[in-house]
Amino acid sequence: MKPPGPPHSPAAAGELRRDLRLIDAVGVGMGAIIGAGIFVVTGLAAKVAGPAFLLGLLLAGVAAACNALSSAQLAATYPQSGGTYEYGYRVLKPWAGFAAGWMFLASKLAAGGTVALGFAGYLERLIPGVPLRPVAVAAVVALTIANRFGIRKAGRLNTAIVFVTAATLVYFVLAGIPHFRAANLEPFAPNGVRGVLESAALLFFAYTGYARVATLGEEVHAPKTTIPRAIVISLTLSASLYFAVALVAVGAIGAAGMAGSASPLTEAAGTFSLPGVRTILGIGAVTAMLGVLLSQIVGISRVMLAMARRADLPAALGHVSERHAVPDRGILLTGTIIALLAVFGTLEWVVATATFTILLYYSITNVAALRMAPQDRRFPSAIPVVGLVCCLLLALSLPLRTIGLGAGLLFVGFTLRWILHKTGVGAGTGR
Ligand code: ALA
Repeated sequence: MKPPGPPHSPAAAGELRRDLRLIDAVGVGMGAIIGAGIFVVTGLAAKVAGPAFLLGLLLAGVAAACNALSSAQLAATYPQSGGTYEYGYRVLKPWAGFAAGWMFLASKLAAGGTVALGFAGYLERLIPGVPLRPVAVAAVVALTIANRFGIRKAGRLNTAIVFVTAATLVYFVLAGIPHFRAANLEPFAPNGVRGVLESAALLFFAYTGYARVATLGEEVHAPKTTIPRAIVISLTLSASLYFAVALVAVGAIGAAGMAGSASPLTEAAGTFSLPGVRTILGIGAVTAMLGVLLSQIVGISRVMLAMARRADLPAALGHVSERHAVPDRGILLTGTIIALLAVFGTLEWVVATATFTILLYYSITNVAALRMAPQDRRFPSAIPVVGLVCCLLLALSLPLRTIGLGAGLLFVGFTLRWILHKTGVGAGTGR
């Protein structure tokens, strides 16, 4: 493990380069977090809980924060690429690490196709008539190429994208404040505690992505301090933005106005008097999808790299380009799979199990945080305990079929791993 060098330090052959500063690391987190959740899922949440979905948003935020703090303390102790794949391996058992890594790859690759099509869909609203699939593929190709030019350029591009997304949401909030009517928050909780809990389970999705920067442990400057800070800052900023956006939206058109719509924020923006809010929000949705896609390509390729190093994936995926110090083959494979999914349709059942798989991923993070050596712990054990309980409760609230599909996905992964280990195809550097 090379020591943290100054930003933009040259990398030794086969190593990644520490080129992400705190602002870029925060950008990676926010890029991964702000996506379809705030633009779409708020409508579903308003449907099940009424205006009290605001409490669901807070509750989901608390669950996300506990999980995020577990990730933060693990990242500070093990600042290697791979996130929970790495923590599971080091702190728990190899199979736990593999389960986390495999689930991450399966759910993020499948979701990548959906996000690329989501991007094209939002663009089509701004520029009617653009062809959806070609545009989706073009976005994947462009972001894959950007990734191959090195983490510094990809990081800067991501920070710019996130800045635009956040600016559009701030404009939405400012434009909506004069239209806030307290009467729109009545009746506050028509479906009681149950509705609030259900909305929290739905809205948890909107926060996922807070630990993405932990998958880039070898590319962040001063990772032991930068990664935990980036996780906390990106989640805090995103959660504050979410709450302001949700409050303004429900204050403007009420839960009923949001509930029936696939784009509840656009409905609210339609009632604002400041000019161009709908268009600006449309631009924000487009850049939000781009940010999620970019951070997915970055994160997936680094988890592939970490898994290839331990022979859990073919050794070729452990290759790091000398010129740009990025896992070039992993990036290429990631872009190719996502582009194919955008053309031929994503595996719907894998997307459906994405919530389950990600909850499993975070459960392993929390168990790893509980098993850390006492001198490495930064937060009381209550944090990972609450995080774990939240993950398990949310996972158990999912339909049985989804849980079964997730288990099937894991079985496929472990079978492939067994074949790789038996045939020696995965013989990597075996760090
Ligand atoms: N948190 C991300 C979103 O809301 C996945 O789309």
